[in-house]
Amino acid sequence: MKIKLADNAGFCFGVKRAIDIVKKEAKTKKLEIFGDLVHNPVVVDSLRKKGIKIVYKIDDITAENIVITAHNTDDKTKELLKKKANIIDTACPHVKHVHNTSKEMEKQGYQVLIIGKKEHIEVQGISGNLTNPIIILNKEDIIKNLDLVKNKKIGCVVQTTMNLEKTKKITEELKKLASEFWFENTICDATRKRQESAQKIAKEADIMLVIGGCNSSNTIELKKVCEKYTTTYHIESAEELKREWFEQVNFVGITAGASTPNISIKRVIEKINYFKLN
Ligand code: F3S
Repeated sequence: MKIKLADNAGFCFGVKRAIDIVKKEAKTKKLEIFGDLVHNPVVVDSLRKKGIKIVYKIDDITAENIVITAHNTDDKTKELLKKKANIIDTACPHVKHVHNTSKEMEKQGYQVLIIGKKEHIEVQGISGNLTNPIIILNKEDIIKNLDLVKNKKIGCVVQTTMNLEKTKKITEELKKLASEFWFENTICDATRKRQESAQKIAKEADIMLVIGGCNSSNTIELKKVCEKYTTTYHIESAEELKREWFEQVNFVGITAGASTPNISIKRVIEKINYFKLN
């Protein structure tokens, strides 16, 4: 049985950067993190084990320093955080780019439309800086908001971890409807590369394993990419692997979300090798 890991899998630049900043700052400062630093339980647990507290409400902050996560937050929340503690900003520069672009669109009189998941922390941060953004996830959502889109000046940004193909289809529709269409494809390079590499392997593999947090948007999108081509399992850790998945399988493809640590990938490969030998 052949096992192949996708060329681009695991930690992206933004996640690695956020973790490095927190580890460095925690050596000399008492800090707390405002929400999950990244959407991966292994990473979050390892920070907790280092004694770093994660707080979900501003009122619960007790440390002198508070970390803004890789997903960023809106300006009003930042102001409230500043009143409680010193800010340590780990927001990914790619997410900041979406914030700045969408604000500029609004300033120039465009109705801003965000392609993304409205319950996701990144989208909440982006929309929190705007007056009246429209958040859509599919073509049906365009129809629901037709009055706000048709013959209007539309500025469109995308959640950094969205699906490339789906985004293309949505923007083609929007382009036809809007009187003016300013589109910034803000899907980040790490997301694009992970989706392309996963697709390449999924086309050949008998099964695909996608490793990453259940709440990780980019991991969920990787699963969607892979399951178009082959049987795909989304797992958070090696413990979830089942021996029967590998019966009569010759080629196992593996990919991992942008917040999945190498140790999780390594343990999955070790366990598959164990199944092979036992
Ligand atoms: Fe940044 Fe993209 Fe990673 S937005 S945190 S580089 S998935």
